[in-house]
Amino acid sequence: MLQQQLKSLDSTNNQENLIREIATPLFSDIEYNTTNIYDSIVYKTSSVLKNHPNLEGTDQLLFFFAVAIGSRDPDTGDHCERLVKMGSEFGKYLQLSPVEIRDITWGAYLHDIGKIATPDTVLLKKEKLTPDEWEIMKQHVVIGERICQPLASTKGVLPIIRNHHERWDGSGYPDGLKGNEIPYIVQVFQIIDIYDALISTRPYKKGLTSELAISLMWKETNTGWRNPELMEKFTEFILQSDNFRTKY
Ligand SMILES: [Fe+2]
Repeated sequence: MLQQQLKSLDSTNNQENLIREIATPLFSDIEYNTTNIYDSIVYKTSSVLKNHPNLEGTDQLLFFFAVAIGSRDPDTGDHCERLVKMGSEFGKYLQLSPVEIRDITWGAYLHDIGKIATPDTVLLKKEKLTPDEWEIMKQHVVIGERICQPLASTKGVLPIIRNHHERWDGSGYPDGLKGNEIPYIVQVFQIIDIYDALISTRPYKKGLTSELAISLMWKETNTGWRNPELMEKFTEFILQSDNFRTKY
Protein backbone atom coordinates (compact mmCIF):
# COMPACT_ATOMS: atom_id res chain seq x y z
CA MET A 1 0.00 0.00 0.00
CA LEU A 2 2.69 2.42 1.05
CA GLN A 3 4.72 1.34 -1.93
CA GLN A 4 1.74 1.87 -4.24
CA GLN A 5 1.35 5.40 -2.94
CA LEU A 6 5.04 6.13 -3.27
CA LYS A 7 4.96 4.86 -6.86
CA SER A 8 2.70 7.69 -7.84
CA LEU A 9 4.92 10.32 -6.23
CA ASP A 10 6.83 11.19 -9.37
CA SER A 11 3.67 11.91 -11.32
CA THR A 12 2.21 14.33 -8.83
CA ASN A 13 2.84 17.99 -8.18
CA ASN A 14 1.52 17.47 -4.72
CA GLN A 15 4.46 15.53 -3.47
CA GLU A 16 4.67 17.02 0.00
CA ASN A 17 0.95 16.49 0.69
CA LEU A 18 1.13 12.92 -0.46
CA ILE A 19 4.11 12.16 1.76
CA ARG A 20 2.23 13.77 4.65
CA GLU A 21 -0.68 11.44 3.93
CA ILE A 22 1.63 8.42 3.89
CA ALA A 23 3.49 9.43 7.03
CA THR A 24 0.43 10.28 9.15
CA PRO A 25 -0.59 6.73 10.08
CA LEU A 26 3.01 5.93 10.97
CA PHE A 27 2.94 8.64 13.62
CA SER A 28 -0.69 8.54 14.75
CA ASP A 29 -0.12 6.47 17.87
CA ILE A 30 2.88 8.43 19.10
CA GLU A 31 1.84 11.21 21.40
CA TYR A 32 4.76 13.23 22.59
CA ASN A 33 7.15 15.64 20.94
CA THR A 34 6.80 14.26 17.45
CA THR A 35 5.70 17.34 15.53
CA ASN A 36 9.21 18.51 14.74
CA ILE A 37 10.47 15.08 13.80
CA TYR A 38 7.38 14.42 11.72
CA ASP A 39 7.60 17.73 9.87
CA SER A 40 11.27 17.28 9.25
CA ILE A 41 10.73 13.78 7.79
CA VAL A 42 7.96 15.01 5.50
CA TYR A 43 9.98 18.00 4.38
CA LYS A 44 13.25 16.14 3.90
CA THR A 45 11.75 13.14 2.09
CA SER A 46 9.93 15.47 -0.22
CA SER A 47 13.05 17.44 -1.10
CA VAL A 48 15.20 14.32 -1.44
CA LEU A 49 12.72 12.78 -3.89
CA LYS A 50 12.47 16.05 -5.84
CA ASN A 51 16.26 16.04 -6.21
CA HIS A 52 16.19 12.45 -7.45
CA PRO A 53 13.34 12.38 -9.99
CA ASN A 54 14.47 9.06 -11.46
CA LEU A 55 13.82 7.08 -8.29
CA GLU A 56 10.94 4.67 -8.66
CA GLY A 57 8.78 2.34 -6.53
CA THR A 58 10.90 0.37 -4.12
CA ASP A 59 13.79 2.83 -4.29
CA GLN A 60 11.50 5.69 -3.26
CA LEU A 61 10.30 3.57 -0.37
CA LEU A 62 13.89 2.89 0.65
CA PHE A 63 14.82 6.58 0.58
CA PHE A 64 11.66 7.41 2.53
CA PHE A 65 12.73 5.08 5.34
CA ALA A 66 16.35 6.18 5.18
CA VAL A 67 15.29 9.80 5.74
CA ALA A 68 12.89 8.76 8.52
CA ILE A 69 15.63 6.80 10.27
CA GLY A 70 18.11 9.66 9.84
CA SER A 71 15.65 11.93 11.62
CA ARG A 72 15.91 9.75 14.75
CA ASP A 73 19.62 10.26 14.91
CA PRO A 74 20.70 13.62 16.34
CA ASP A 75 24.00 13.35 14.45
CA THR A 76 22.40 13.35 11.01
CA GLY A 77 20.96 16.84 10.32
CA ASP A 78 21.81 17.92 6.76
CA HIS A 79 24.76 15.54 6.73
CA CYS A 80 23.31 13.46 3.85
CA GLU A 81 22.75 16.39 1.50
CA ARG A 82 26.30 17.65 2.07
CA LEU A 83 27.70 14.15 1.55
CA VAL A 84 25.86 13.89 -1.76
CA LYS A 85 27.47 17.13 -2.99
CA MET A 86 30.93 16.32 -1.66
CA GLY A 87 30.76 12.70 -2.90
CA SER A 88 29.93 13.88 -6.37
CA GLU A 89 32.69 16.56 -6.47
CA PHE A 90 35.40 14.44 -4.84
CA GLY A 91 34.35 11.48 -7.04
CA LYS A 92 34.87 13.63 -10.16
CA TYR A 93 38.20 14.85 -8.76
CA LEU A 94 39.30 11.19 -8.42
CA GLN A 95 37.92 10.46 -11.91
CA LEU A 96 35.53 7.81 -10.63
CA SER A 97 32.92 6.51 -13.07
CA PRO A 98 29.36 7.92 -13.05
CA VAL A 99 28.15 4.59 -11.64
CA GLU A 100 30.65 4.74 -8.75
CA ILE A 101 29.67 8.35 -8.05
CA ARG A 102 25.98 7.36 -8.04
CA ASP A 103 26.72 4.54 -5.57
CA ILE A 104 28.56 6.94 -3.24
CA THR A 105 25.63 9.38 -3.50
CA TRP A 106 23.13 6.67 -2.62
CA GLY A 107 25.45 5.51 0.15
CA ALA A 108 25.09 8.95 1.71
CA TYR A 109 21.39 8.23 2.27
CA LEU A 110 21.46 4.50 2.84
CA HIS A 111 24.65 3.67 4.77
CA ASP A 112 22.97 3.79 8.20
CA ILE A 113 19.56 2.38 7.17
CA GLY A 114 20.20 -0.60 9.48
CA LYS A 115 19.78 1.78 12.44
CA ILE A 116 16.05 1.13 11.97
CA ALA A 117 16.72 -1.86 14.25
CA THR A 118 18.85 0.01 16.81
CA PRO A 119 16.77 0.73 19.94
CA ASP A 120 16.48 4.34 21.12
CA THR A 121 18.13 3.36 24.40
CA VAL A 122 21.30 2.66 22.43
CA LEU A 123 21.01 5.08 19.48
CA LEU A 124 20.17 8.12 21.59
CA LYS A 125 22.24 7.31 24.68
CA LYS A 126 24.41 10.27 25.70
CA GLU A 127 26.73 8.34 28.02
CA LYS A 128 29.38 5.91 26.83
CA LEU A 129 27.90 2.66 25.49
CA THR A 130 28.47 -0.54 27.48
CA PRO A 131 30.21 -3.38 25.60
CA ASP A 132 26.82 -5.10 25.07
CA GLU A 133 25.21 -1.89 23.76
CA TRP A 134 28.19 -1.36 21.48
CA GLU A 135 27.63 -4.83 20.00
CA ILE A 136 23.99 -3.88 19.29
CA MET A 137 25.10 -0.61 17.65
CA LYS A 138 27.59 -2.45 15.43
CA GLN A 139 24.79 -4.64 14.07
CA HIS A 140 23.43 -1.74 11.99
CA VAL A 141 25.86 -2.43 9.13
CA VAL A 142 24.80 -6.06 8.74
CA ILE A 143 21.09 -5.31 9.14
CA GLY A 144 21.35 -2.49 6.57
CA GLU A 145 22.96 -4.85 4.09
CA ARG A 146 20.19 -7.39 4.66
CA ILE A 147 17.49 -4.76 4.06
CA CYS A 148 18.99 -3.64 0.74
CA GLN A 149 20.29 -6.97 -0.54
CA PRO A 150 17.11 -8.02 -2.42
CA LEU A 151 17.09 -4.83 -4.49
CA ALA A 152 19.02 -4.85 -7.76
CA SER A 153 19.39 -1.06 -7.70
CA THR A 154 21.40 -1.04 -4.47
CA LYS A 155 23.91 -3.74 -5.47
CA GLY A 156 26.78 -1.25 -5.80
CA VAL A 157 25.87 0.43 -2.52
CA LEU A 158 26.00 -2.76 -0.42
CA PRO A 159 29.78 -2.53 0.29
CA ILE A 160 29.29 1.02 1.59
CA ILE A 161 26.45 -0.12 3.84
CA ARG A 162 28.31 -3.15 5.19
CA ASN A 163 31.87 -1.84 5.38
CA HIS A 164 31.71 1.89 6.18
CA HIS A 165 33.15 1.24 9.68
CA GLU A 166 36.20 -0.75 8.55
CA ARG A 167 39.68 0.67 9.15
CA TRP A 168 42.78 0.52 6.93
CA ASP A 169 44.74 -1.41 9.61
CA GLY A 170 42.02 -4.03 9.99
CA SER A 171 40.75 -2.79 13.37
CA GLY A 172 37.25 -1.87 12.12
CA TYR A 173 34.03 -3.86 11.83
CA PRO A 174 32.20 -6.06 10.82
CA ASP A 175 34.78 -7.97 8.72
CA GLY A 176 38.11 -6.53 9.92
CA LEU A 177 39.04 -5.83 6.26
CA LYS A 178 42.61 -4.53 5.80
CA GLY A 179 44.05 -2.01 3.30
CA ASN A 180 42.68 -2.39 -0.22
CA GLU A 181 40.47 -5.28 0.86
CA ILE A 182 38.19 -2.34 1.73
CA PRO A 183 36.57 -1.48 -1.63
CA TYR A 184 37.85 1.86 -2.98
CA ILE A 185 34.43 3.55 -3.09
CA VAL A 186 33.99 2.62 0.58
CA GLN A 187 37.32 4.28 1.42
CA VAL A 188 36.22 7.40 -0.49
CA PHE A 189 32.87 7.42 1.27
CA GLN A 190 34.49 7.05 4.72
CA ILE A 191 36.79 10.02 4.13
CA ILE A 192 34.01 12.43 3.15
CA ASP A 193 31.72 11.09 5.89
CA ILE A 194 34.32 11.71 8.61
CA TYR A 195 35.37 15.10 7.26
CA ASP A 196 31.79 16.36 7.18
CA ALA A 197 31.11 15.04 10.70
CA LEU A 198 34.19 16.89 11.98
CA ILE A 199 33.38 20.28 10.41
CA SER A 200 29.67 20.13 11.34
CA THR A 201 28.30 22.01 14.32
CA ARG A 202 25.96 19.87 16.47
CA PRO A 203 23.86 20.81 19.49
CA TYR A 204 26.66 19.51 21.71
CA LYS A 205 29.77 20.61 19.76
CA LYS A 206 31.12 23.32 17.51
CA GLY A 207 32.37 22.28 14.07
CA LEU A 208 36.13 22.26 13.46
CA THR A 209 37.78 24.40 10.79
CA SER A 210 38.88 22.56 7.63
CA GLU A 211 42.51 22.83 8.72
CA LEU A 212 41.85 21.27 12.13
CA ALA A 213 39.63 18.56 10.64
CA ILE A 214 42.29 17.62 8.07
CA SER A 215 45.04 17.57 10.69
CA LEU A 216 42.94 15.32 12.95
CA MET A 217 42.27 13.01 10.01
CA TRP A 218 46.03 12.85 9.32
CA LYS A 219 46.61 11.90 12.94
CA GLU A 220 44.15 9.01 12.47
CA THR A 221 45.79 8.12 9.14
CA ASN A 222 49.20 7.95 10.84
CA THR A 223 47.66 5.71 13.51
CA GLY A 224 46.80 3.36 10.63
CA TRP A 225 43.07 3.96 10.24
CA ARG A 226 43.00 5.33 6.67
CA ASN A 227 44.65 4.99 3.28
CA PRO A 228 47.48 7.60 3.26
CA GLU A 229 47.46 7.96 -0.56
CA LEU A 230 43.75 8.68 -0.62
CA MET A 231 44.11 11.04 2.34
CA GLU A 232 46.79 12.90 0.34
CA LYS A 233 44.34 13.33 -2.55
CA PHE A 234 41.55 14.42 -0.23
CA THR A 235 43.81 17.06 1.35
CA GLU A 236 44.63 18.44 -2.13
CA PHE A 237 40.93 18.38 -3.02
CA ILE A 238 39.92 20.35 0.08
CA LEU A 239 42.76 22.88 -0.34
CA GLN A 240 41.63 23.76 -3.88
CA SER A 241 37.92 23.67 -3.07
CA ASP A 242 35.77 26.73 -2.45
CA ASN A 243 32.67 24.70 -1.61
CA PHE A 244 33.92 22.42 1.11
CA ARG A 245 36.40 24.57 3.05
CA THR A 246 35.07 26.17 6.18
CA LYS A 247 34.83 29.95 5.95
CA TYR A 248 35.95 30.75 9.48
FE1 LIG B 1 27.25 3.71 10.50
